[in-house]
Amino acid sequence: MMNPKKPGLVSPAFLLLVVLTGWNDLNFKGCISCFACKTGGGKSYGRCAVKDDLRPIFKQIEAADALILGSPIYFGIVTGEMRSFMERLLFPYVTYTDPPQSLFPKKMPTGFIYTMNITEEMMQEWGYQQLFDNNQRLLQMAFGASESLCCFDTYQFKDYSKVVADRFDPEKKARRRREVFPQDCDTALAMGARLARTPG
Ligand SMILES: Cc1cc2nc3c(=O)[nH]c(=O)nc-3n(C[C@H](O)[C@H](O)[C@H](O)COP(=O)(O)O)c2cc1C
Repeated sequence: MMNPKKPGLVSPAFLLLVVLTGWNDLNFKGCISCFACKTGGGKSYGRCAVKDDLRPIFKQIEAADALILGSPIYFGIVTGEMRSFMERLLFPYVTYTDPPQSLFPKKMPTGFIYTMNITEEMMQEWGYQQLFDNNQRLLQMAFGASESLCCFDTYQFKDYSKVVADRFDPEKKARRRREVFPQDCDTALAMGARLARTPG
């Protein structure tokens, strides 16, 4: 679910689905703290001044009706690429004013889809929920209403017999892939359709 090689643009003015794993062909880094986006009266106020492959993507996001981010969980957080992307996307919009404001030119519903190897029970126990809540709060500050969706107990390897991973029961994993994963995909699709219909 989370490994497309490119961000999928379902329809430019309708729904932008950004999935970052596998964006190895895009050249971008995290925020470099240049503060051009925070410099009052500057030409980059409220915009990221760094010129790299994210620039056209930020333009597409400004034109979109809804935004969905997706990331697998790596060591308890989103991928490094997703972190870098979020720094660059969100920092220019959220102001340091009191109270903070958003410089994003409109309201836009957003969602975040997470996939992970662990079960829902382990996720609760290990405190991942706090990360999801933090990301949701950040997206709300920048764009407006936001929701999160989790896909648990993913089928990580194409062939479990070829990897050293005896912690997992391949049959149980395969069953879940067959029976639950398609429902997860349907839920994700429904979220996308709902967000795209939600007025900003
Ligand atoms: C470097 C790395 C670290 C990972 N760390 C975690 C983790 O901390 N918790 C977890 O549940 N899954 C972890 N996983 C498993 C991925 O989350 C899992 O493979 C992913 O959800 C599968 O979805 P995908 O098919 O969309 O990649 C890790 C995988 C990799 C490659």
